[in-house]
Amino acid sequence: SDTLLDIHPVAGRIGAEVRNIRLSAELDPATFAAVRAALLRYKVLFFRGQQHLDDAGQEAFGKLWGELVAHPTVPVREGTGYLLELDSEHGGRANSWHTDVTFDVAYPQASILRGVVIPAAGGDTVWANTAQAYLDLPAPLRALADQLWALHTNEYDYASRFNTTEAGLKRYREIFTSTLYETEHPVVRVHPETGERTLVLGHFVKKLLGYPSSDSDHLLRLLESYVTRLENTVRWRWSVGDVVIWDNRATQHYAINDYGDQHRVVRRVTVAGDVPVSVDG
Ligand code: SIN
Repeated sequence: SDTLLDIHPVAGRIGAEVRNIRLSAELDPATFAAVRAALLRYKVLFFRGQQHLDDAGQEAFGKLWGELVAHPTVPVREGTGYLLELDSEHGGRANSWHTDVTFDVAYPQASILRGVVIPAAGGDTVWANTAQAYLDLPAPLRALADQLWALHTNEYDYASRFNTTEAGLKRYREIFTSTLYETEHPVVRVHPETGERTLVLGHFVKKLLGYPSSDSDHLLRLLESYVTRLENTVRWRWSVGDVVIWDNRATQHYAINDYGDQHRVVRRVTVAGDVPVSVDG
């Protein structure tokens, strides 16, 4: 299938740029199947020059991947069915490692992010490979991780991202004090398409089940350190019109908040996922 695509790996262990392709709902089935296969292999795909995609085009393209799901607590962008806008002037800054929406039971399988306003310098995003991180664990730690479960919640401190302005704080109160999600996931899930084992961690994890909180903190930090080591990551310098798709079952990502007062807007649609299955089935 790779022969259908012009694929250029960006880093050694994760991430590839696909060139000479025009993303749209009209993508022919063979090319789309090749993109899907490439996503499973590289885990993050980068597409430059997709300025022709507007909000509706992004949603229509997203629907090729499966059912789209709106963010459970953040209102969709006006005029769209599913689109999440992350605007730096309205709290949409991150600076923390996570997998999208893991506080949900069947969290999204994939996210499709489009660069709309991009700073002249800064605002890169970094992705990490959570399948490789699992393989990098020493065998006894892998065996331990296989048996662990964690509590995920949207209690994660979104407030720190919104409280820089009075308007931001108001929006925070509107959005994030709405519904509390608490969900238990295995720390290691078996990827439903590749069969790979991946680590399910990131900033929505509150604690490991069955451990005192200080032990939980130490263990989580240790496991997460295998996810975020630099050789396990790929970093993308955005341009307007870039589209990035990631396998949300096999990655974490980190949006670097290093651009000060510059404006940054990205828009995301997410594709419905399934309930993670542990190594015990
Ligand atoms: C996200 O977490 O989906 C947004 C990443 C980014 O802003 O680059």
